[in-house]
Amino acid sequence: MRSIAITNQKGGVAKTTTTVNLGACLAQMGKKVLLVDLDPQGNLSSWLGLDIHNLERSMYNVFLEEVYFEEVLTKTCVENLTLAPSNVALASVERILAHEKGRDLILRKRISSVRDEYDYILLDCPPSLGLITINALTFAKEVFIPVETKVLALNGLVTLTNTVQVVKERLNHSLEVTGIIACRFDGRTTLSNEVLNQMKDRFKEKVFNTAIRENIRLAECPISGKPISLYAPDSSGAKDYIELAKEVIEREPSDKETKK
Ligand SMILES: Nc1ncnc2c1ncn2[C@@H]1O[C@H](COP(=O)(O)OP(=O)(O)OP(=O)(O)O)[C@@H](O)[C@H]1O
Ligand SMILES: [Mg+2]
Repeated sequence: MRSIAITNQKGGVAKTTTTVNLGACLAQMGKKVLLVDLDPQGNLSSWLGLDIHNLERSMYNVFLEEVYFEEVLTKTCVENLTLAPSNVALASVERILAHEKGRDLILRKRISSVRDEYDYILLDCPPSLGLITINALTFAKEVFIPVETKVLALNGLVTLTNTVQVVKERLNHSLEVTGIIACRFDGRTTLSNEVLNQMKDRFKEKVFNTAIRENIRLAECPISGKPISLYAPDSSGAKDYIELAKEVIEREPSDKETKK
C-alpha cells in the first residue's frame, strides 16, 4: 500500500484536480484506490457527485472519533475507486481538537484498519499547514506536491518542505517528498518553462516527467461529477493524467520499503 498526501498550502494549484484524476487513472489501471477528502471545501467530494451539504457521515465524524473510518466510505462512479468525503463541518475540527493530546495522530490511528485493503491511499489536503495537513503528513509515507506553473511561486515550497521535515523528525520517520507535479503547464509561455526549469533545478528527479497541461476540459470537469478519463477521454488532460499514473506506478518503491 502506498499512502500519498497531495499537499501545497497555496490555494488553487490543482491538488484536488490531481487527486481525483490521478486516483481515477490508477483505479482504471486495476489498482484499488482510496481518496480521502481532507478539505472543508469538499471539492473532491462534490467533484465525485456527492451532495456535500447533506452528508450523513464524513471525515469530521472520523476526526472526532464518533464513527469508524469504514463507515464514511462511499463507492464512486469508477470501479476500484472509493471516497472518504468531507464538507464544511471539517473546518471546526481544528478548534475542537486544539488542546487534545495526540491530535496529530488521529488520522493514522483511524485509517489503519483499512490500509491493507488498498494499493493507493491519496489524501487531498486543504490549502493550509494546519492540524488536518499535519494529520495527513503523519499518516502518509509519501508527499506529492502539485505546483502551478503559471505563476512564480516556488518560494512557498520552502515552508512546505520544512514542515515535511519537522513532521518526519517528530512524528513519522518514513515520510518523504517523492513527487513534484508541474500543473497547468503551458509550453508556449516563457513563464511555464521557466517555472518548470526552476522546479527541476531544485527538486531534480523528483519532478515527474509528465507535466499536466492547461486544459479547459479539466476546468469543466468537476460539474460533470466524473473524472477526466470518463468526462473527456480524448482530452490532453485525460492523456496527461494517464501518463502521470503510469509514472507513479513505475516509481513504486519495493515491497520492503512500503511496509511501515
Ligand atoms: N490542468 C488544468 N487546466 C485547466 N484548469 C485547471 C487545471 N488544473 C486545475 N485547474 C483549475 O484550477 C482551479 C484550481 O484547481 P484545484 O481546485 O484542483 O486546486 P486546489 O489546489 O485543490 O485548490 P484549493 O487549494 O482551493 O483546494 C480549478 O478551477 C481547476 O479547475
Ligand atoms: Mg482542493
